[in-house]
Amino acid sequence: MSDKPKYYITTPIYYPSDNLHIGHSYCSTAADTMARFKRLTGHDVYFLTGTDEHGQKIERKAKDAGVTPQAYVDKIVAGIKDLWKLMDIDYSDFIRTTDERHMKGVQKIFKQLYDQDDIYLGQYEGWYCTPCEAFWTELQLKDGCCPDCGRPVERMREDAYFFRLSKYQDWLIQYIEDHPDFIQPNSRTAEMLNNFLRPGLQDLCVSRTSIKWGIPVDFMPNHTVYVWIDALSNYITALGYGTDHDELYQHYWPADLHLVGKEIVRFHTIIWPIMLHALGLPLPKQVFGHGWLVIDGGKMSKSKGNVVDPIRLCERYSSDAVRYFLMREMPFGSDGEFTNEALVKRINSDLANDLGNLVSRSVAMVEKYFGGAVPAPDAYTDLDNELIHEAEGLWEAVEADMNALNFSQALTRIWHLIGSCNRYIDQTTPWILAKNEADKPRLGTVLYVLCECARIVAVMISPVMPRTPERIFEQIGVTQPESKAWESTKKFGLLKPESRVHKGDALFPRIDVEKELELLEKEREAAKAAAAPAAEEKPEGVFTQRDLIAYDDFEKLQLVVAKVLACEKVPKADKLLQFRLKVGNTERTVLSGIAKYYAPETLIGKKVVLLSNLAPRKIRGIESCGMLLCAATADDTQLKLLTVDGDIPDGSAIS
Ligand code: MSP
Repeated sequence: MSDKPKYYITTPIYYPSDNLHIGHSYCSTAADTMARFKRLTGHDVYFLTGTDEHGQKIERKAKDAGVTPQAYVDKIVAGIKDLWKLMDIDYSDFIRTTDERHMKGVQKIFKQLYDQDDIYLGQYEGWYCTPCEAFWTELQLKDGCCPDCGRPVERMREDAYFFRLSKYQDWLIQYIEDHPDFIQPNSRTAEMLNNFLRPGLQDLCVSRTSIKWGIPVDFMPNHTVYVWIDALSNYITALGYGTDHDELYQHYWPADLHLVGKEIVRFHTIIWPIMLHALGLPLPKQVFGHGWLVIDGGKMSKSKGNVVDPIRLCERYSSDAVRYFLMREMPFGSDGEFTNEALVKRINSDLANDLGNLVSRSVAMVEKYFGGAVPAPDAYTDLDNELIHEAEGLWEAVEADMNALNFSQALTRIWHLIGSCNRYIDQTTPWILAKNEADKPRLGTVLYVLCECARIVAVMISPVMPRTPERIFEQIGVTQPESKAWESTKKFGLLKPESRVHKGDALFPRIDVEKELELLEKEREAAKAAAAPAAEEKPEGVFTQRDLIAYDDFEKLQLVVAKVLACEKVPKADKLLQFRLKVGNTERTVLSGIAKYYAPETLIGKKVVLLSNLAPRKIRGIESCGMLLCAATADDTQLKLLTVDGDIPDGSAIS
């Protein structure tokens, strides 16, 4: 252990019930970014993550899979570790709640709380949500279901131990009021006080007899410890709390930051502080509840088929690109919508274009005009000084943003410098300076300024993107460790003239956005289809109750006959045809993805079937007002546009 200031940061421990999705990666990426930033700025960092492996849900899933719970979790945990490796999540320790060190620690904590009468034996009757492993009171239920996940709850009654939360309620309210930074962002403090603490805490049921897959209460047969008491304890059992080897605990506790998603703030800011206080231990300095990454406005869920697979994204775009997107796209406390479009556009514009261009242009010009050796700067002009000033002053604001977990803002600032550098290239026009031998010193200054700014940028992005900086250093010829350190961002001019640049591969390959989005969209549709209840299990032509729609619903569809006045291919879109249609006295434009089945001119004059009241949608900048109906084979090899047999005026209704 070193004498640097210590910094202990944790992620929640993840349920190993399924493959983790990009939302889980969000939390770990943020924690890893923070851990790296703290290391870079001179802290002795301990970064803990792990898995939360007990409970009824796992027990059931293992049973369904025909394996023991242990075998079930072992396999998933191995996959989670692989994912963190792929995403460069560089943790100090990975705790599993099935580790013996943890189980023993929890038993000790439980016993101590029981011995001092903070835990007592009683009878529990309440509503239990199995997926969330949470008990709810009648009042907390939403439409009779779990207020967190909306799923049905079960009535449960059994002998159980209870933890005296109520005894500590007033103490906790006071503590939170006295420590306004304990729960962040501030809005979550108000939520905890107003929704949970001030209305009054009930004692918490902390043991179960119906669940076998849990940590046994060692002084009472058949009882297992409630999963949240089990899980929360990980933050200290991992440090050896309560054992003869508790050096890590002594050194690193209390945690500086528990990073958690907003839905589990309540466990971390009510149950956990009360546990710690009852045990006579100090509280973590801060619990930060970050927002969710949502899709189509809702939570990602496997059953909806809308989970985004981080492995696929990292393999396709690199883990640095995915990490950058996650940290840049949304302010850390808020929810943010995940879209393929936002992801691809960010990677293309910020990484391939802005950052990639700065490095590749600077290196290419040093090669071309100075034989690959970074030139020494001559006299700086006002223009140079303006840029130097921005670069040199950046660290202070970035440091403040990072310390406040404003990752997105820190990156925005760094990208502002990158933008200034790219503008500086256009303003100084090095390629014109290169034409005149007398301008060579000026050219040297310009290229030096650019390479040095690229170096500063590389150091600053390293907590978010751990791989890219080395590639930039390699290209601009930075080798000394002191030029890669955080301190080195505070002083412009550390890059040594005569350093050898090396032109390398593009940092981030440019993406054909349209093609890429088409591909990702296809993958998304396929995932959705795979998640939908297996249609093929149903005999053809037989409908389940769920397939049937009411006549009122059918009546909402306005199907009409339309006449094709004009039809042409949409430029640069392989699939799309643009139709001009006449519908009675009106005309409208409709796009249809059928270009590979028809030559457009053969459709002119046909009477087709149009769904006329579909909400208009812009595709490739063209507004499409309606949809043409087609018949297609299941494998999409054949497709026919529906046309109306015989002569009937356009505008006629189809019913
Ligand atoms: N096992 C508990 C935590 C116990 S900590 C003592 C748990 N596990 S979890 O796997 O469901 O979630 C782990 C973390 O992932 C939570 O912080 C949760 O908020 C986060 N996320 C899961 N889906 C998410 C998004 N879609 N977006 C952002 N974070 C999300 O809760």
